[in-house]
Amino acid sequence: MKIFIDSADIDEIRQAYAWGVADGVTTNPSLLKQAVEKRVRAGQPLDLKAYITQILQVAENTPVSLEVTEYTAQGMIQQGKRLYDMFNKVADNVYIKIPVNPAFKEEDGTHFDGLRAIRELTAGGIPVNCTLIFTPEQALLAAKAGANFVSPFAGRIDDDIRKKANLQFDKTAYFAASGMMEKDNVLEDNGVVSGIDLVDQCVQILEQYGFATEVLAASLRNPRQVRDAALVGAHIATLPSAVIRDMLKHHKTFEGMKLFTADIVAEYAAL
Ligand code: G3P
Repeated sequence: MKIFIDSADIDEIRQAYAWGVADGVTTNPSLLKQAVEKRVRAGQPLDLKAYITQILQVAENTPVSLEVTEYTAQGMIQQGKRLYDMFNKVADNVYIKIPVNPAFKEEDGTHFDGLRAIRELTAGGIPVNCTLIFTPEQALLAAKAGANFVSPFAGRIDDDIRKKANLQFDKTAYFAASGMMEKDNVLEDNGVVSGIDLVDQCVQILEQYGFATEVLAASLRNPRQVRDAALVGAHIATLPSAVIRDMLKHHKTFEGMKLFTADIVAEYAAL
């Protein structure tokens, strides 16, 4: 499973590449907002074009997703092409992120504009990461339209299921891949019992029909969820820096380090 860093913070991105574990970067408008605000708070002026250029250079040879902010087919296509023309020349690693369905509500006439944008951009050779996937059938349509990556949002499905059940929860708390029972029923969202179940169903469907589209498990909030994403065969997991850090921790590893260090004989250390 490839690991992407889910961040627009250049320091976190640099660090993930220095750790040797990053195979790509995903950004979105909220992550960029956090990165901009952090610099404003620190009194550092931010030239966003130069900043994104730096991210692309750090991530050289690996995909970096940049999300559109438009929400009509024409708007997303134009902006996608503009971002690609502006930035892909830096390190040839830009993927344009397109929402699977950019409508804000049922009555909007833009439901299929995301798919149209995916079709047009990928037909023109611009790679696309299709975002905001909450059902396996959205992933199927995005793959059919030509998306290179589909991004199911695992953590947000878990939030939704827990919220509908009126549970108090910490967003980073583990939610079992097998879902949660309430009386005799498993809680679900239209046949999806957890975020990892959503990832699993996307992987199964795309692999069953031989799509080249890769499933990029997104909105992962803790190490065990990452393990579950790997177990169900996600091709990629995009992870916040804090989750990557937590993946390495175990009290027995700390204890083992102390015990081995205490047992070092001087002759051995001197070799
Ligand atoms: O990759 C999508 C991710 O940034 C969303 O994460 O935790 O806000 O649901 P979250």
